[in-house]
Amino acid sequence: MNDRLFIFDTTLRDGEQSPGASMTRDEKLRIARQLEKLGVDVIEAGFAAASPGDADAIRAIAETIQGSTVCSLARANERDIHAAGGAIKPASRGKGAGGRIHTFIATSPIHMEKKLRMQPDQVVEAAVKAVKLALEYTDDVEFSAEDAVRSDMDFLVLIVDEVIKAVAITLSVPDTVGFSFPALWGERMQQLIERVPNSGKVIWSTHCHNDLGMAVANSLAAVMNGARQVECTINGLGERAGNASLEEVVMAVRTRRDVFPCDSRIDATQIVPTSKLVSSITGYPVQPNKAIVGANAFAHESGIHQDGVLKHRETYEIMRAEDVGWHANRLTLGKLSGRNAFKTKLTELGIVLDSEEALNAAFARFKELADKKREIFDDDLQALVSDEGYAAEHERFKLVSMKVCSETGEIPRAQIAFTDDGTEKQASGTGSGPIDATFKALESVVESGADLLLYSVNAITSGTDAQGEVTVRLAQDGRVVNGQGADIDIVVASAKAYLHALNKLDSKRERAHPQAGVAV
Ligand code: KIV
Ligand code: ZN
Repeated sequence: MNDRLFIFDTTLRDGEQSPGASMTRDEKLRIARQLEKLGVDVIEAGFAAASPGDADAIRAIAETIQGSTVCSLARANERDIHAAGGAIKPASRGKGAGGRIHTFIATSPIHMEKKLRMQPDQVVEAAVKAVKLALEYTDDVEFSAEDAVRSDMDFLVLIVDEVIKAVAITLSVPDTVGFSFPALWGERMQQLIERVPNSGKVIWSTHCHNDLGMAVANSLAAVMNGARQVECTINGLGERAGNASLEEVVMAVRTRRDVFPCDSRIDATQIVPTSKLVSSITGYPVQPNKAIVGANAFAHESGIHQDGVLKHRETYEIMRAEDVGWHANRLTLGKLSGRNAFKTKLTELGIVLDSEEALNAAFARFKELADKKREIFDDDLQALVSDEGYAAEHERFKLVSMKVCSETGEIPRAQIAFTDDGTEKQASGTGSGPIDATFKALESVVESGADLLLYSVNAITSGTDAQGEVTVRLAQDGRVVNGQGADIDIVVASAKAYLHALNKLDSKRERAHPQAGVAV
């Protein structure tokens, strides 16, 4: 198995720690299904002890996913391990690829002293105890030495060996703060493997953050030096500057098989659809020049390059766009498509609507869209289902209708009808542009006082009749949420996104942060 590289996706856990990226249970399920299709080995579905909602989402994923191991994070304490064990239980019953508990504790002097307020021997004891307790739920236990990058090497060797003796089967070495660089990180991995007496009994894993822009390079250096699992996220989402991006790690290893002694089982043609789905659900747009999944990743602008590619593609292309799924956004349905064709297409896309009512509502939206837009693509359907999902899940505020006047030399004005817990309300306002007028109108009635941190709009498909997908990031009392809305009319999409963000602020979901608090 030494030539197999395991891909551990933590989009639903570390990725969810990006500001405002928190996802509902159904959104997580949709992403988990797509990750399974992509062929990831492990889906870290969340942190069960964070909140009952997180535990519920992990349980639902563990009940559904068959082709990937479903994992929950747990700090090295009894409460967290019991919560994680309970949440992954459906996956551990032997039907699918199983359930994993990923337990961790910080091992650096600064974390042990200032955050945990524990002595090193207490940390070792807690780690061993956590692994042993986790084994009561599953035999697939992973241990991470948080902040390994700033940990003393002798202490790391000691704690890791104790944990392996307690029978952890995957051993992860995280660069929690994104501090390392490739030569050092590769050396650290190599030394650990050399010095830990029982190192041959585990799969070594790497988990790198991107604070200095080197998460992917560091992960690859670890692989060159013996790591056989990479922890990564779609589009590089994650705490602060994010994690190593899955698509870059996977394609680097596959494209340079001459350099790497291993490969993953990822179906690369699912990379772009997965990236788009995650971007649309989390509201984190992908920058156009992002490797592999950015809109320009395969666009040749210079005449010399275009000429070269036309004569012989490999003059300027090291990968084929179609191999990473760039042409997977197929023309799907049109105005005359029926309910059955619509339902079949959703199933093909891995979208499961849990009731006839939800299917009917989505089909009605599809017909409306098909009236305005001649060609409906896979990405349109994903956005439409997301939009329906938001409306169904968080019902407090819902857009009914709106009128916006914008004319050269005049002050833009918006008039909006929306429902607040079923009661229709009218809002009107002016602003420096139509979007500003829309948000001011809504605020004049809702009075959330939230700060607008980010507004972004992206075309879902190409063409001037494309749907616009808007993200609105709001902050209120220290909470940050992203709201999304999609529509052919970007002002309408903006109003939907603003209301979606308000709905998220309204659902007071309290969650613990995995890296906060005392470990035992
Ligand atoms: O970055 C990190 O150290 C983590 C741990 C919880 C594994 O995410
Ligand atoms: Zn992390």
